[in-house]
Amino acid sequence: MNQYVTGAVIKDLREKNKMTQLQLSQKLGVSDKTISKWETGKGYPDITLLEPIAEAFRISITELISGNTVHNANVSANMLRSKFYVCPICGNVIHSMGEAAINCHGIQLTPLEAEPTDECHMIFIERVEDEYFVRIHHDMTKTHFISFIAAVSSDRLQLVKLYPEGEAEARFKISGVRKIYIYCNRDGLFSQDILKGIDDKVSGYDDAQERRELEQAADMLFG
Ligand SMILES: [Fe+2]
Repeated sequence: MNQYVTGAVIKDLREKNKMTQLQLSQKLGVSDKTISKWETGKGYPDITLLEPIAEAFRISITELISGNTVHNANVSANMLRSKFYVCPICGNVIHSMGEAAINCHGIQLTPLEAEPTDECHMIFIERVEDEYFVRIHHDMTKTHFISFIAAVSSDRLQLVKLYPEGEAEARFKISGVRKIYIYCNRDGLFSQDILKGIDDKVSGYDDAQERRELEQAADMLFG
């Protein structure tokens, strides 16, 4: 987090807002030379100018000083665009439906980028009646463990917190779930889409079907 508004932030915001130095200077009642000075690190805007600068860019003074601006066109859009933040110090898990400037333990948290699952973080999904039973073969020691599993649909988030020494598994109501997320405290966030026609099949029925087919094949071969 910046201590005060920096020239780089002003330049970035000015360019994002498609303003010239002259246009910004006219809004603030200063000369374009002054803007150039700020942007090249040769001076800071006076504190009385913070409010007009924030207004010119339609952001808050906090965003202006921190350099973290939030742009949410339509927050109510879709839970599938969910973002997860995890504090590296305390493990605090924060969910957001759009962009946000989030701090924990004095650290500006960035939204986690979910990666496709790898061989050490495979997600096994099984349908049991009206629930998905999700499990991961993974260490659950104090230093390396799965910290949460989440199931997201367009209008719902189901999140189960896991703890070291526990099982890396959880159950979720199926209702429209499209994506499963898991978070490993060392390796980060992974996600897997629910595969229609595979993950939502009732496993018990499939086993029976498969067994019948094997029995029929054995009958045909060995009489
Ligand atoms: Fe891991």
